Amino acid sequence: MSGKYKPQFPRVAQLKTAELFRNHLEKEGINLDFDADVISGPDSPFAKSHTLKSGRTIGNAMCILPMEGWDGTTDGRPTELTKRRWQNFALSGAKLLWGCEAVAVRPEGRANPNQLMLNEQTFTDFVGLFQLLQTTHQEHFGDTSDLLIGLQLTHSGRFCKPTDKKRMEPKILYPHPILNKKFGLADDYPVMTDSEIDSIIEDFIKAAVLAQKAGFHFVDIKHCHGYLGHEFLSAYDREGKYGGSFENRTRFLRDIVTGIEAAAPGLEIGVRMSIFDWVPFQKGPEEIGIPAKSDSYRYAFGGAESGIATDLSESFLFLKELEKLGIELFCTTAGSPYYNPHIQRPALFPPSDGYQPPEDPLHGVARQIQATAEIKKAFPNLYVIGSAYSYLQEWLPNVGQEVLRTGKADSIGFGRMGLSYPDMPADILSGQGLKRAKICRTFSDCTTAPRNGMISGCFPLDPLYKKMPEYDQLKALKGE
Ligand SMILES: Cc1cc2nc3c(=O)[nH]c(=O)nc-3n(C[C@H](O)[C@H](O)[C@H](O)COP(=O)(O)O)c2cc1C
Ligand code: SF4
Repeated sequence: MSGKYKPQFPRVAQLKTAELFRNHLEKEGINLDFDADVISGPDSPFAKSHTLKSGRTIGNAMCILPMEGWDGTTDGRPTELTKRRWQNFALSGAKLLWGCEAVAVRPEGRANPNQLMLNEQTFTDFVGLFQLLQTTHQEHFGDTSDLLIGLQLTHSGRFCKPTDKKRMEPKILYPHPILNKKFGLADDYPVMTDSEIDSIIEDFIKAAVLAQKAGFHFVDIKHCHGYLGHEFLSAYDREGKYGGSFENRTRFLRDIVTGIEAAAPGLEIGVRMSIFDWVPFQKGPEEIGIPAKSDSYRYAFGGAESGIATDLSESFLFLKELEKLGIELFCTTAGSPYYNPHIQRPALFPPSDGYQPPEDPLHGVARQIQATAEIKKAFPNLYVIGSAYSYLQEWLPNVGQEVLRTGKADSIGFGRMGLSYPDMPADILSGQGLKRAKICRTFSDCTTAPRNGMISGCFPLDPLYKKMPEYDQLKALKGE
């Protein structure tokens, strides 16, 4: 996006009082509640702990969402930058670390050549990462008995780039009428065979066994953002045992879960899922996002036929499946950063391969909060974490507190805010006030950088990244 871009929506930082914020929400017709005052200390809804059926406790209602850095070694090990990011997660004050980033289960399933990968060769590095989280948290908060740490296991499916940062090597489940074209795949680009999928399931199970041995309390079987697990859910047109019926489209999940239960008893399992999806968007007039297709669209799992509205009926069926499988940990997200980023990570400034926001990004925040609330209401026994709060900026604590207080979710997830302002959770709890200079302003540099072959990080606000040559490259790219 050009540096000349003038946001068409008011900046959240300008909505300085509760009255201004409320008036803006009303004027825009955005259905978003918030508490005018934020409580700190043990009575804060953010301080509420939760004990899982297994007896394990999560010490508060804040969660660090998985955030990849594109900065591992090419054989899938963490670097000093990876370790620094994980340390920041551990000192955040959140008692649930969901992820902590996407970790590939096999080399060709990586989203980039520097994605972490868990296998026999990298196992000891993951032991080190887990211990780093524990010791860092212990040093800052004096107790790790209530810190729950998961590892997000993934195969990037349609968005694999295992060898070259700029070259996709997709592994697809069905020819998608819009995404095949968007990413330059012929209509007859080969789809993965059932036996290839069987062997990926084995890799997930092997990785889960290693994660448990390394100390992780749970693994997330990633079902979001257009990656492999998510693509199964919309594989309506696929033939064979992994496509077509709902039962077939959820076989991948079931087989992994039953395999893990047998091979790694006692390991908790969680699922992060795009609870709704929409049609892919593209640049329209004045670079504003418009749907890539305006008539009926069949491939949005959790989406209505219009492609631009939510219909959670199949998502609910998926959640019933999770309940049957005894899964308690559920993290919500939406859409995909590759084809409809405004519903996935609402931002005022789009990434370089995106489009200007077609709506006030607060609509995107409210949409995810409402869909998550519907899920929490229908599945009260799940422990539900919500996402996409970073765009709220100064108002994140106020909205998050209202969500927790009224039971719309059990935990508030911190994504981009965790990069720019890692210890925001601790500051919310202590009541000492927010550090404005660290608040994420959704500049999207952490997405633009990897889209252009660089590492990710908060270049504009994190002092370490600010000094990096990549930041100058980014500014040049944006015409600044
Ligand atoms: C740089 C970057 C890396 C991300 N990496 C992951 C990831 O590895 N796994 C995942 O499930 N989501 C990932 N996400 C999505 C976030 O977890 C989160 O859903 C999203 O940023 C919206 O939350 P927020 O508004 O708090 O940022 C990433 C997002 C960004 C910006
Ligand atoms: S680069 Fe920093 S300020 Fe920009 S979206 Fe990412 S975390 Fe937020």
